[in-house]
Amino acid sequence: MHRREWLKQAALGASATGAWATSPSFLPAIQNKKLPPLKITNVKTILTAPAGIRLVVVKVETNEPGLYGLGCATFTQRARVVETAIERYLKPFVLGKDPLRIEDLWQSNFVSSYWRNGPVLGNAISGIDMALWDIVGKRAHMPVYQLLGGKCRDAVDTYRHASGRNFKEVEDRVRQFMAEGYRHVRAQVAIPGLATYGAAGGKGDNKVPGNRRPLLWEPKPYVRTVPKLFEHLRKQLGDDVELLHDVHERVPPILAIQLAKDLEPYKLFFLEDPFSPEDIGYFKHLRRQTSTPIAMGELFNNPNEWLPLVADRLIDFIRIHMSQIGGLTMARKTAALCEFFGVRTAWHGPGDVSPVGHAANVHLGLATTNFGVQEARKFTDAEQEVFPGCPELKNGYYYANDKPGFGIDVDEKKAKKFPIQDDPPFDLRWGNYRRRDGSIVKP
Ligand code: CO
Repeated sequence: MHRREWLKQAALGASATGAWATSPSFLPAIQNKKLPPLKITNVKTILTAPAGIRLVVVKVETNEPGLYGLGCATFTQRARVVETAIERYLKPFVLGKDPLRIEDLWQSNFVSSYWRNGPVLGNAISGIDMALWDIVGKRAHMPVYQLLGGKCRDAVDTYRHASGRNFKEVEDRVRQFMAEGYRHVRAQVAIPGLATYGAAGGKGDNKVPGNRRPLLWEPKPYVRTVPKLFEHLRKQLGDDVELLHDVHERVPPILAIQLAKDLEPYKLFFLEDPFSPEDIGYFKHLRRQTSTPIAMGELFNNPNEWLPLVADRLIDFIRIHMSQIGGLTMARKTAALCEFFGVRTAWHGPGDVSPVGHAANVHLGLATTNFGVQEARKFTDAEQEVFPGCPELKNGYYYANDKPGFGIDVDEKKAKKFPIQDDPPFDLRWGNYRRRDGSIVKP
């Protein structure tokens, strides 16, 4: 039976008339009628890699025919562990429960492992949570942003990643994005001989004794080069374009403070992840010394990590990974918290957020008054095939498609055409960056 038919019969019972069947919309007729109770009947974990990146997507099905929701649980470095957390633990826990009790399911999923607050379990909760929001949106026949208070902007402003082997290449790439309409661009440059985050071209050497293929990294040449890159970009591109940069926690804290000060003249939109999560005690020292805007948070697991940074106004942009920290439920609470402290949102949005996660980011961005910027990507043809309804990028803005829920679907058959790779089980560059003396670098 089709969902429409089922709703009709459920709402009207035997009293349904012929007039009903010919009504252009059955919705007014079921207004004020009580819909039958919903139950979670199945949870599927879909692993797929249409762009070569291991994605974890959750599909929560209900007893209402055709009514299901999608969520993103992507933790690309540990995809199989998230799959196990969902299939073996959360799925049996949520089966038979009411998918509309989103808050209650969040709280009960959260404490169901007793030990909590980490990645993997956080990803599993996130995937289910987003799927529940998708379900309630579809049931209400409304886009999720409507349920969050409605649009307070027409579209979500985004930034893209420009990189190159030298300043000129980076400049050209930024120019390309500007020509495509982007107002915000992140700029990263390769450091010769070193494996630089976010920039191809410097692979590092493999001469560290005792290690098979480490990727070489030294912080000093990097912190000397980056201010020169931005001096170049400002000279060539002017002041209008908003420039961003990601340190990716690769340098000792005091060097990050020096870098933030050295970058001050170039008026960055933000400097990202100057410290590792283990070094957040340094933010108060950084803040006293520079007004370079700071973004942080993609590696955070729970509110205790960002609460002090927000409450003490030590960061300007919160960048948590919605598919890790507890889904839309946790992200919307965090956005509301940040509003009162003047902190803006910049949700994590690279390739290891699935198109479903990107759609959730966009819906929240549309309804968040203290939205800052959204990290964006152009979805490949394969991704759009597997996930019909991806957010659209136009003139540097992400647009939601205004369909009920997150407005995005998954074609499970096509998802199977892009299986995730298990050998190697993850990108082995992680855990392999080392200094010249062989010691490990974060990350
Ligand atoms: Co980052």
